[in-house]
Amino acid sequence: MAPTLALLLLCQVALYTTVTSKKVCGRPSITEGIDKATLKRVYEVGEEVTLTCEQGYMPSVANPQRITCTATGEWTQSNLACSPKMCPIPRPLQPLAMGRTEAPFRSVLNFTCDDGYVIQGANHSRCLHDGTWSNPAPLCKAVNCRLPSPPRDGRIVHNKPITGSTTTYGQSWTYECNPPKAPSYERGSCMANGSVTEPPVCRDVSCPIPVGIPNGIITFAVMRQHGYKEKVKYACNEHYVLEGEAEIQCQNTGNWSSKPVCRAPCTVGIKRGRIFYNAKKLWIADLKPNRVLHGEHVVFYCLNRAEECGYPVASTCNNGTLPIPECFEEPGRVEYTLKAKSLPSEITMCAASPPASPTSPTARSA
Ligand SMILES: *[C@@H]1O[C@H](CO)[C@@H](O)[C@H](O)[C@H]1NC(C)=O
Ligand SMILES: *[C@@H]1O[C@H](CO)[C@@H](O)[C@H](O)[C@H]1NC(C)=O
Ligand SMILES: *[C@@H]1O[C@H](CO)[C@@H](O)[C@H](O)[C@H]1NC(C)=O
Ligand SMILES: *[C@@H]1O[C@H](CO)[C@@H](O)[C@H](O)[C@H]1NC(C)=O
Ligand SMILES: *[C@@H]1O[C@H](CO)[C@@H](O)[C@H](O)[C@H]1NC(C)=O
Repeated sequence: MAPTLALLLLCQVALYTTVTSKKVCGRPSITEGIDKATLKRVYEVGEEVTLTCEQGYMPSVANPQRITCTATGEWTQSNLACSPKMCPIPRPLQPLAMGRTEAPFRSVLNFTCDDGYVIQGANHSRCLHDGTWSNPAPLCKAVNCRLPSPPRDGRIVHNKPITGSTTTYGQSWTYECNPPKAPSYERGSCMANGSVTEPPVCRDVSCPIPVGIPNGIITFAVMRQHGYKEKVKYACNEHYVLEGEAEIQCQNTGNWSSKPVCRAPCTVGIKRGRIFYNAKKLWIADLKPNRVLHGEHVVFYCLNRAEECGYPVASTCNNGTLPIPECFEEPGRVEYTLKAKSLPSEITMCAASPPASPTSPTARSA
């Protein structure tokens, strides 16, 4: 767990007014980092001053910079610029510092830990004049909680075995009661504020007599009220597809978990034409019986008039409804018998993806 960090970059701008008069120079105007401790307010013409960088700053030029107060009351030019020493930001913290790899002299890093973690070490660090940090980066350690208490007439089942006499933030467990009683809640954990979930109470629950589902049956159940964790199993009538869990369970709330649903099969609603279904290209008359299951795909063939080629358009059976793509044109009886070879499913397939047809309601599939 890496500490979170806020970065404060100090930016000092030094402002000095230059007092000018005929015979004297005012204090020279200086930029950030130039040592001003030894500077006077007023200098005589001809006086010299050597500019240096203050502690924590590095000079841009090697030689000492000497400036002179001239007869006009102005100082000669100086080339000196002072740049702050930089402290390298520890690599693990760089993402938190928005990718910065270093911070200038006098920067402060503030450290905090996420909820559920306590800081070990200093909560801030300062970039010192020698380019080092005043404090190392701290660690964030997960909060400890006491061991949880089991419910009366029950026990605790830990996800992971507990070692020692404490639990840590994020650990969780399950409460169980002596059958047939059920716990008022089933999960507990060590929380961010260091407290553990109070034990639940064990009580009797019963779920109502299970009821059937449309287009399905209960395959295994005794028609009575059921106790905690008892199960009932469902199945769908032939050709119906079950969605959800086939088996439901009596919960500690006295409700059943959600029942599955049975989705209806579809009929392919065309009389003439060829489809692609179940990895086979077949004439609709050969689909016997005319039935596809919920969730299955059926591909129809449409005509690209401009290029005189055919292209496939897929449709999916959804609980009894299989939409026919709008671009599909069912051939007339004569056309079907006499000119079957010219149907979109029989002519050349379009090479590239066909021009987007605004009337096509479903996504095309190859
Ligand atoms: C860092 O902490 C100090 C003192 O707690 C506070 O004055 C300063 O504003 C904080 N800096 C940032 C960038 O949060
Ligand atoms: C750091 O801890 C001190 C007390 O130890 C506290 O006064 C200060 O506000 C903390 N600073 C930050 C940034 O959390
Ligand atoms: C700890 O947090 C939990 C949930 O956030 C809360 O119910 C409980 O009262 C808190 N306990 C203490 C001692 O603050
Ligand atoms: C249990 O059923 C009751 C109504 O019988 C309902 O109010 C409650 O929300 C259900 N609880 C759950 C967890 O589904
Ligand atoms: C499936 O279709 C049947 C009959 O058309 C309908 O009663 C049922 O509500 C549908 N199920 C869903 C989940 O849409």
